[in-house]
Amino acid sequence: YGDYNLKIDYVFKVVLIGDSAVGKTQLLARFARNEFSVDSKATIGVEFQTKTLIIDNKTIKAQIWDTAGQERYRAVTSAYYRGAVGAMIVYDMTKRQSFDHLARWLEELRGHADKNIVIMLIGNKCDLSSLRAVPTEDAEEFAQRENLFFMETSALESTNVETCFLTILTEIY
Ligand code: GTP
Repeated sequence: YGDYNLKIDYVFKVVLIGDSAVGKTQLLARFARNEFSVDSKATIGVEFQTKTLIIDNKTIKAQIWDTAGQERYRAVTSAYYRGAVGAMIVYDMTKRQSFDHLARWLEELRGHADKNIVIMLIGNKCDLSSLRAVPTEDAEEFAQRENLFFMETSALESTNVETCFLTILTEIY
């Protein structure tokens, strides 16, 4: 696979945040390895994956960090956000509560991250359309008010996963 001598132009750290079980780990698995797991375990501490892409003739190494949505499994917050140039705040569109908690996640993010960080709001699990609990318009309105990019995704069906990562990386670049 001859990419051992690939010259990396940029390394971009992007963090995933949001309530437990919204699908952060599976969005990352889909993006980085094109995998999906139905019996995904809760993340404990912090994990990250990298993927190298070409954007605008530049080689960009995306380093995507994933942490626990559950408070008791979370690692040191300030270290998690350090150096991040992008953030994806994920909610589960079938769980209203995960959407209602967005303001808190945004507050934590804005309290710890660089003020120029690019933020994208992600409504995941759009394959479960009959269980939808968050109308697209509500999320659009929130995103507009808070100045965030917004996209609905399905890690299960691969919908918009590549697109949302490419969008945030292109915006960062
Ligand atoms: P924490 O690690 O606890 O913060 O959770 P998480 O946000 O990383 O959630 P995770 O990726 O582990 O997914 C939780 C559950 O939702 C698992 O059973 C996944 O298989 C499922 N899931 C994730 N993405 C999707 C999706 O797009 N559609 C459907 N139907 N299920 C999904």
